[in-house]
Amino acid sequence: MQTPMPIVEIAGTGRFLPDNVVTNDDLAKRMDTSDEWIQTRTGIRERRIAPPELWAAQMGTEAARKAMEKAGVEPGEVDILIVSTATPDRWLPSTACDMQSLIGCDNALAFDLMAACTGHLYALTMAEGYIAAGRGEVALVVAAEKMSAIMDWDDRSTAVLFGDGAGAAVVRKADGSGRGILSSHHRSDGKLAELLYRPGGGAVEPLSQTVLDEGRHLLKMEGREIFKNAVRSMAEACDLALQKAGLTASDIDLLVPHQANIRIIEATAKYAGIPMDKVYVNVDRYGNMSSATVPIAFDEAIEQGRLGPGSTAMTVAFGAGLTWGAMTIRL
Ligand code: UT7
Repeated sequence: MQTPMPIVEIAGTGRFLPDNVVTNDDLAKRMDTSDEWIQTRTGIRERRIAPPELWAAQMGTEAARKAMEKAGVEPGEVDILIVSTATPDRWLPSTACDMQSLIGCDNALAFDLMAACTGHLYALTMAEGYIAAGRGEVALVVAAEKMSAIMDWDDRSTAVLFGDGAGAAVVRKADGSGRGILSSHHRSDGKLAELLYRPGGGAVEPLSQTVLDEGRHLLKMEGREIFKNAVRSMAEACDLALQKAGLTASDIDLLVPHQANIRIIEATAKYAGIPMDKVYVNVDRYGNMSSATVPIAFDEAIEQGRLGPGSTAMTVAFGAGLTWGAMTIRL
């Protein structure tokens, strides 16, 4: 199969991370865990935690401004703003609308997309479709996550895994040179929703004293089941994204996977046939920042020169829903 001609390209990327670093030892002071357990089981050494007054929309705005600067795009040129977040600042309006007003992209339509850790990949594909349909030429795709706000800080099995941050990408109509999104393969399976979810606080179980007392508004996860599904689904998504692009694993210069657990990353890379020296890893520094993980890793990889003009990247993610997906992108 021939490699398809991309419809859109990634014109610029950006990231924002809160300054506050929380180490495993810091967590071990407030719950029954240890640096040794966390590093061995997850690969995480530390994560960033945003202060209470910092909104996801503000983190996303910082990341978006950097991406727009690199792309040479002014706020008024943005046709569509898609914000993926599992931690909206408020239930209404969308975090995207708050971000639109901070950025000043007044000519855009703005909305949130909820696909948990796979959100950035889904959002890139939605932006691609919007541009392909001729509805606009410039999309701003932002992932902004304040996971610390939905964690149960008394549950050591989840509290040690997550962190806060935001990443962004400017997506623009491709210039015909072959640079851009080559392929994607995204799926979800709602039958497995309750492996990773927040049972209360929504319309089904509105916020009440009982919901608060029982912590039912906070994140719950069946870690082992999620682990197994993650490896299986991400491996399959990588295979299909490669196939759709007419590529093989040896064509990939860098795999940029979702960063939930180093053991999941290693298993996925092994299955995909990509050696670890071609895999970007920052889970040690940030933990799992849900959908912000992939765009932050992507931006760092570009900054470090591990991705540059002409290189071919594959990105893959997995999360609540369940949702998963993979994409191949030529820079
Ligand atoms: O973004 C996508 C969403 N999330 C994920 O992808 C996460 C997927 N799952 C995982 O990464 C792993 O399953 C975890 C890191 C969550 C857990 O690792 P595991 O190797 O599957 O451990 P486990 O859940 O089987 O627990 C093993 C032991 C248990 O003790 P017992 O029952 O063997 O005595 C836990 O109670 O480790 C205990 N444990 C801890 N001990 C110290 C669980 N959390 C901790 C902790 N510190 N933080």
